[in-house]
Amino acid sequence: MDNHKVPRLAGDMGKDVELLIGQTLVMSRDLPVRADHDSRGGVLIREGVIAEVGHGDDLVAAHPSVPVTDFGDGLILPGFIDAHVHYPQTAIIASWGKRLIDWLNTYTFPEELRFSDPTYARDIAARFFDISLAHGTTTVASYGTVHSASLDAFFDEALRRGLRAVAGKTCMDRNAPEGLMDTAQSAYDDSRALLERWHGKDRLSYAITPRFSPTSTREQLAALGALWAEHPDCPMQTHLAEQVDEVAWVKDLFPEARDYLETYEAAGLLGAGGVYGHAIHLTDREWDRMAEVGGALVHCPTSNTFIGSGLFDMDRALTNVPVGLATDTGGGSSFSMLRTMAAAYEVAQLRGRALSAFELLWLATVGSATTLRLDDKVGRLAPGFDADLIVLDLASTPAIAQRSSRAETLAEALFPTIMMGDDRAIREVRIMGQRVVPAC
Ligand code: GUN
Ligand code: ZN
Repeated sequence: MDNHKVPRLAGDMGKDVELLIGQTLVMSRDLPVRADHDSRGGVLIREGVIAEVGHGDDLVAAHPSVPVTDFGDGLILPGFIDAHVHYPQTAIIASWGKRLIDWLNTYTFPEELRFSDPTYARDIAARFFDISLAHGTTTVASYGTVHSASLDAFFDEALRRGLRAVAGKTCMDRNAPEGLMDTAQSAYDDSRALLERWHGKDRLSYAITPRFSPTSTREQLAALGALWAEHPDCPMQTHLAEQVDEVAWVKDLFPEARDYLETYEAAGLLGAGGVYGHAIHLTDREWDRMAEVGGALVHCPTSNTFIGSGLFDMDRALTNVPVGLATDTGGGSSFSMLRTMAAAYEVAQLRGRALSAFELLWLATVGSATTLRLDDKVGRLAPGFDADLIVLDLASTPAIAQRSSRAETLAEALFPTIMMGDDRAIREVRIMGQRVVPAC
């Protein structure tokens, strides 16, 4: 057929259309992961959205008037989704020598106090997005600080860059410095005002964000539970059972609760749309209850080893609950989701489970998107999804290149980049189809 005569082609001309050619990997939405590799695949982008995915030559033939960008051996993937970060901790990443509660008091809270200055918040928000994008992360779910201006800074910056992003004001009304505390009422009021200002604007979502049970009174947790009941389509994010000492502290603070999870459930903070970070030290009851209600867990492996928290049970998570992957910057020790996948691999190995290259990639894309209930919008190469894409160089350093050159399958070629790769492996980043110019 002479494609020039197909009338719909005229519609492509002069429009915001582009065909990306390279290796493609289309992953299944569900587990067990199925991954469809094409060594010369194509992704047609129209007006910021993935319009078609197929074999590259077929797409070129079907759309002869569309500009083509050919990445050769580059692997076209959905951008990484970091399901749990603290953008205000950007400047204190890799701070030495403390476990969770001491780490919060020594490094984190003093840094978060600096966000009373909106100019500082804006500087760090811009820095955070520059770094994350350079590492191929196109969507994050972030905690702010207690200051509403820290969320305005984050969302303004995300909006300016056209990003899909999730964030919420971190609420605390006890066991924190004076300058980082709100109250039950002001947490409700300020969170609601931010939610009304930002949730659903462009590609932004507001997440109701109690930091964790030790820093909220029952009244504050209940106030945020009430807000979530009024806005059930919002995500709710918090921390759960990260460290043994923290779990013991929760037991002291909430003697009436059977376990950590029940402190959230009692306040209306457990359910589908709930995103619970870490979740290392869960009892069988907590695992079962999480599975019953459809809450999602986020694995933060570089943080869990860096702060000395423990080994997440990924095998149990994969068969029971929605689960995603996150850097947990700056408790985590890297902005890179590649490095995070490597740590997830290592932690699972220590528990006797070898995660495959495709499972790791699935966790960093589809899995994370699912925890944030964004799995119909981002995280897969599929028609109708946002064209938030990356191109991976599978030979980005001599050490990686010499290993991947021996590979006989895509999984084998990809795995050295997962284990040894960093921002040098990110050849290109697209946001709604537009190329992002690296700022760092
Ligand atoms: N638990 C409560 N707050 C935090 C935090 O900022 N980082 C981590 N890793 N755990 C927490
Ligand atoms: Zn965290």
